[in-house]
Amino acid sequence: MEQPPSCPVQQNGSEGAPPYVTYAHMDRLHELQQPRSDSPRELTFLLISHVKELLFRAVLVEVDQAREQLRQTQVDQACDSLSRAVRVQRLLVNAWDTMTAMSPDEFLAFRDILGEASGTQSFMYRALEFALGNKDPRTVAQCSRSIGLYPELERALYTPSLYDEVLSLLVRMGAAIPRDVYEREPGAPYSPSPAVEQAWLAVYQEPARWRPAHRLAELLTEVSYQFSHWRATHLLVVERMLGSKPGTGGTAGLDWLRSVNEHRFFPELWTVRTLL
Ligand code: HEM
Repeated sequence: MEQPPSCPVQQNGSEGAPPYVTYAHMDRLHELQQPRSDSPRELTFLLISHVKELLFRAVLVEVDQAREQLRQTQVDQACDSLSRAVRVQRLLVNAWDTMTAMSPDEFLAFRDILGEASGTQSFMYRALEFALGNKDPRTVAQCSRSIGLYPELERALYTPSLYDEVLSLLVRMGAAIPRDVYEREPGAPYSPSPAVEQAWLAVYQEPARWRPAHRLAELLTEVSYQFSHWRATHLLVVERMLGSKPGTGGTAGLDWLRSVNEHRFFPELWTVRTLL
């Protein structure tokens, strides 16, 4: 009789540690959070920071997949990948709840230990922004000193973004988008284009005719919405913890984050709403 397939976590299980630990390197994972103060809150801060980093990567995996699927005009499959990305993004937004359980005095008890460490130096967050299409020269400059250290980041910067692939797809579907908009230098920043806005307008005016593009438009909007939701909640957490103190990364803190919050991924999908 045919044997049922074994659980993948059991495959590496031989001697010593149980397979759950050896397969997923759980022992190494739990060695990574090393608080430097006596504050029990610092351990939670480190745990949640690590969880968020891993979730950035989980979103990136789906975005990379969607990008490849769009390149091959597999719109349905790309939409499925983006739906999975959105689920992870919701986890990222909800994870802020754990930070707000800490009072400002509890945070300040270990904040000095961070030195100049800041989320601005998160290469995985930046790779995700690049893959989605935000190749902001300010943030490129922030990490360009170290870009060679992080292959994921370099690849994300110099590969056409998810939105570049979306625009190429719209062109293949007949949209009149100028070549310099959809075939840009991959590392260059993106500027909103009236031709792209018109293409989305046509999709929203006749959703039944453009069903796959309409589903894609709404999923991209959801990805963008969840990203902005994450940024807006981070901003509130920062105000709650620090007021308007400067950030450890050398920015003005709240005011700087407010300007970052104004950015929208896939900008024409937001502005087209006014035209409907
Ligand atoms: C008490 C909690 C937190 C506070 C007070 C805080 C504060 C700040 C401040 C002030 C900045 C502006 C840059 C600077 O440092 O000068 C910043 C940026 C950033 N933080 Fe946080 N942060 C907190 C938690 C987190 C966590 C848990 C993450 C995720 C791992 C995170 C990710 C980021 C990212 C990615 C940026 C850069 C945003 C961008 O460039 O668009 N932060 N944070």
